[in-house]
Amino acid sequence: MPKVLIIGACGQIGSELTFKLKDVYGYDNVIASDIAYNNLDVVNSGIFEIVDAQDYSSVRSCVDKHKIDTIYLMAAMLSATGEKHPKRAWDLNMSSLFHVLNLAKDGFIKHVFWPSSIAVFGPTTPKQNTPQHTIMEPTTVYGITKQVGERWCEYYHDKYGVDVRSIRYPGLISWKTLPGGGTTDYAVEIYHEAIKHKSYECFLSENTELPMMYMDDAINATVNIMKAPSDAIKIRSSYNLAAMSFTPAALSEAIKVHIPEFEITYRPDYRQGIADSWPKSINDSEARQDWNWQHDYDIEKMTAEMISKLQQN
Ligand code: SER
Repeated sequence: MPKVLIIGACGQIGSELTFKLKDVYGYDNVIASDIAYNNLDVVNSGIFEIVDAQDYSSVRSCVDKHKIDTIYLMAAMLSATGEKHPKRAWDLNMSSLFHVLNLAKDGFIKHVFWPSSIAVFGPTTPKQNTPQHTIMEPTTVYGITKQVGERWCEYYHDKYGVDVRSIRYPGLISWKTLPGGGTTDYAVEIYHEAIKHKSYECFLSENTELPMMYMDDAINATVNIMKAPSDAIKIRSSYNLAAMSFTPAALSEAIKVHIPEFEITYRPDYRQGIADSWPKSINDSEARQDWNWQHDYDIEKMTAEMISKLQQN
């Protein structure tokens, strides 16, 4: 059994990943960590450590203490917040990655998972069915950190043999955790507002199409890429990954099937420019071929589950 450390375990993806990895690898083999006690469900779910991802010795002492061999580095500043704090986004996203890659290079750990994003693409990238290998000129600080991070992951694999694996997540949607500071966050907020107020003012325009994915699919992809045999992982920068693409208008129609009174209005803000720079749909054939990626949720299935789970809660 691997001995796993999740850094950023209280965040949008980390919190759900913590519970899934405990199921897969055993309760005591998964150590959750974050910079603060930001999610009490996670903190109380088992072994929890305070770890500062930007401080090498903080990460290193947790690795030593628990004899960690695998790190999932989920701490990051997302696209919208990153535009407000460019230097902080650069520092957090890059220094945490170097600390973890260096721990692997120096033999303290064996395996690394690091998430990339559709934000690696930019306005000059082909927008429809965006291929794995294409023009990448990101215009957000977040996208720049993910693009540079991908280059370093591949470099550490090729030059030092580090087993690092990565996925370019699309916008992620879950009823369990709220996102924080992303451009795709509207697709989560809209469900909460639909249930509470039967209306939502969207910060993106109605025809802004973006690649999206239900969290269960994203977590399964994360577990499966890490379980695959090393020689199956042919891409060591990061894999394109896709499930569905939709616009705010289409999501609103899917919600109206369950909540007919629901009404959406549009007031695009600075996040519109970020969304306009990203692809509308993603070609993920390499992930499907190399490690058998398959998605389960489309917009209808996701919407039915989001609404019934949020209503129960
Ligand atoms: N969900 C992220 C964001 O919007 C994209 O990776 O920033």
